Amino acid sequence: MSSNMLNDISEVLYSEQDLKEMVERVGAEITRDYEGKNLLMVSVLKGSVAFMADLMRAVKIPAQIDFMSVSSYGAGVKTSGVVKIIKDLDLNLEGYDILIVEDILDSGKTLNYLMNLLSQRNPSSIELCTLFDKPERREVPVYPKYVGTTIPDAFIVGYGLDYAENYRNLPFVGVLKPEVYGG
Ligand code: IMP
Ligand code: MG
Repeated sequence: MSSNMLNDISEVLYSEQDLKEMVERVGAEITRDYEGKNLLMVSVLKGSVAFMADLMRAVKIPAQIDFMSVSSYGAGVKTSGVVKIIKDLDLNLEGYDILIVEDILDSGKTLNYLMNLLSQRNPSSIELCTLFDKPERREVPVYPKYVGTTIPDAFIVGYGLDYAENYRNLPFVGVLKPEVYGG
């Protein structure tokens, strides 16, 4: 990683303005659909923090929030499919309309596991909202109700998304130069 993060980016795919528009659109959909419900937005740490922080303010009806941290073993680009709960939710889910907020849906293994787990706790409903979706990468069934945008199979960073825990604080979403992976 170079001292200037911008030097590691080959292309900006979604500008701050692009992201803002996606968040506003999805926020309006959630506002419409969850009127009169008992909305609990569940952010999956750490990738979804930027999206969650912006999305919760684009939702114009009462909502509660909670956080959960899961990890797929390994620090690389791929998900192993083995999911470990690092931090569980604080709230009892009974009676809540759960909306899981994710940064990106890839193989779907993490979310497939998580949705099954949380479903067993008797929420009133459970749905998934993801900022980015790579449908062609799916290995297990997961159907997000709200999607910021679908993207082709490329590895992206920024706005919460990391490569080896870096680049999460970029305000836009971009693609890394190949030499950054090469070391
Ligand atoms: P899945 O379980 O394969 O769907 O993986 C989802 C997780 O993999 C995300 O929450 C991210 O942490 C990570 N991930 C997948 N694709 C990307 C990407 O393009 N950039 C950064 N992280 C990614
Ligand atoms: Mg990650």
